Amino acid sequence: MSYQKQYQASVEQPDVFWQEQAQKIHWFKQPSNILSKDENGVDRWYANGELNTAYLALDHHVLNGRGDQTALIYDSPVTGNKAQYTYSELTEAVAHFAGVLAAQGVEKGDRVIVYMPMIPEAAIAMLACARIGAIHSVVFGGFAPHELAVRIDDAEPKVVVSASCGIEVDRIIEYKPILDEAIELAESKPSRCVILQRPEKTCELTAGRDLDWQQAVADAKPADCVSVRSTDPLYVLYTSGTTGKPKGVVRDNGGHAVAMNYSMEVVYDMHPGDVFWAASDVGWVVGHSYIVYGPLIRGCTTVFYEGKPVRTPDAGAFWRVCEEYKVKGIFAAPTAFRAIRKEDPECELAKQYDLSALKTVFMAGERLDPPTYDWVDQHIQRPIVDHWWQTETGWAIAGNHMGLEPTAPKAGSVTRPSPGYNVQILDSRGNPVEAGEQGSIAIKLPLPPGCLPTIWHNHERFEAGYLNTYPGYYVSGDGGMLDEDGYLFVLGRTDDIINVAGHRLSTGEMEEVVAGHEAVAECAVIGQSSDLKGEEPLGLVLLKDGIDIDEEQLKKELVQRVRDNIGAVASFKNAVVVQRLPKTRSGKILRKVLRNIANNEEYVAPSTIDDPACLTEIEGTLSDKGLR
Ligand code: COA
Ligand code: AMP
Repeated sequence: MSYQKQYQASVEQPDVFWQEQAQKIHWFKQPSNILSKDENGVDRWYANGELNTAYLALDHHVLNGRGDQTALIYDSPVTGNKAQYTYSELTEAVAHFAGVLAAQGVEKGDRVIVYMPMIPEAAIAMLACARIGAIHSVVFGGFAPHELAVRIDDAEPKVVVSASCGIEVDRIIEYKPILDEAIELAESKPSRCVILQRPEKTCELTAGRDLDWQQAVADAKPADCVSVRSTDPLYVLYTSGTTGKPKGVVRDNGGHAVAMNYSMEVVYDMHPGDVFWAASDVGWVVGHSYIVYGPLIRGCTTVFYEGKPVRTPDAGAFWRVCEEYKVKGIFAAPTAFRAIRKEDPECELAKQYDLSALKTVFMAGERLDPPTYDWVDQHIQRPIVDHWWQTETGWAIAGNHMGLEPTAPKAGSVTRPSPGYNVQILDSRGNPVEAGEQGSIAIKLPLPPGCLPTIWHNHERFEAGYLNTYPGYYVSGDGGMLDEDGYLFVLGRTDDIINVAGHRLSTGEMEEVVAGHEAVAECAVIGQSSDLKGEEPLGLVLLKDGIDIDEEQLKKELVQRVRDNIGAVASFKNAVVVQRLPKTRSGKILRKVLRNIANNEEYVAPSTIDDPACLTEIEGTLSDKGLR
């Protein structure tokens, strides 16, 4: 079927379209109710169907003759380790770890937090939860104790699964002290922690609370897959919102499984037996969808890479992995390619490897800037797919569908909406705009399978944040336009979320941390463009009256505060003291204008501004510091 036909069918008769897709996966109980409303009036997929996601990802393939195929390849330049698991081996490991969780009283619907580095045990823990119907919540390893504590308090896990350490290039990150501090800070205390001891740095277990992973697995009886309802949550994944409190994006089992299978085929053109490598981290949505669930549900081989695009050991790492495992599709954030380009501008290292298996390069997570696109295009000479999506949707809202009539790309465009996503550009009153005009990118309801149905324990936040702005639509938080040919251009967030090295961060959250410093009266944190990371945060700080503090010292303290409270991953490295912050007459800080100033963009001072002279003052301060 052509893209156009499939897209039309998906938006005109979504239930018929997605019923057909649902038939491609194995259900314990086939759904007859394809699209219905839940008690909150939210569209739900396959409400009366039953299945098990871990069964689909593992047992199903073993039963269908794929037991000896490699399911997961672990490649860790930071430790020098490599390992491979066949579908049979991974199924067994998961069943045993599911037994460990079950022995600790974890049951269907209970939450388990997974705080782990990029090691296969992270996937094993996730799939083990899915196997027994528990809900996992993976927390990215780069977050500080406070962030972990916030997630523990929101998810209220019965068990936390972690490891003794992670490794950042050549630096050991001890996880155990972070975990201990987080549990100390949290009000909700998990009853057990299961800790994997890594030989690079073991840790002391807390008596009465911690179990040793190896020991627990040796003692465990394997647990079977349980049948869960399609609408039962598979996981909660926290993502940055505009306030300090992260949002727990809920993913259901049934819609997600269908969407994973569909997107692996249609977006990525991946088929059973193909090798797919998403060079991300299990702590992000890319890791959930396309390191763990998508490739495994589809019967592919997934690559688990514990390393960086550069420095582990060099800028040839991506190409080495592609050659070694015959990777057919690689998916990474543009920032990773910018890092490679910076160290190997002529891409000499790629020439040392046989990339003949590589068919497509996929990028997402942040805007793909034209110089990066051109560089990869020139040196790798493969189709490059820029596709746009979010933690909330779990799979591509738009892209160039490699498994469904790929089309000629256009510079700066994420190509066309994916089947299932009725993408519309709306003006400020919620009316669709003409082709070529900019507006808010919204998706007409229903959202397709796989997208979030709610925010964990906070349905009001889901409605307020996504559904109430334009009734009948999901609002993405990104601005953009559709051109006359139906190509979508994503022009950036319309809220206070920034994207640093492909990591989504809330400037509001950083502001809360910076404002907590005793010398700070008020502050604004904005995103400033960065050649390597896309954006980096910059803090503009107003001191309390009478405070006399050395600016360099203050900056150091603020940088440390953000590292301690949010984590190194925030990349908060710059803070400047200003005399005033531009505000509206009603006292709202004009962050958009500040962004314009910091990024040397043209701007018009809004008519509501209290004191326009403040803007020239800020321009001067930033110029004096070499920050614009
Ligand atoms: N655990 C602990 N610390 C971590 C971490 C983790 N899992 N991940 C990152 N950090 C730390 C880094 O060590 C760094 O610390 P530092 O400030 O002390 O040096 C800090 O957080 C910032 O990390 P990052 O922004 O990743 O910068 P980097 O210089 O280490 O690496 C890139 C730069 C471009 C190579 C890297 O960001 C990258 O590969 N990005 C791809 C992002 C991605 O996969 N996004 C997912 C969406 S597709
Ligand atoms: P996350 O939820 O972390 O995946 O971040 C989602 C946000 O990243 C989106 O709302 C966009 O702002 C941005 N983003 C993701 N992919 C792209 C892309 N291909 N082009 C531009 N922005 C993107």
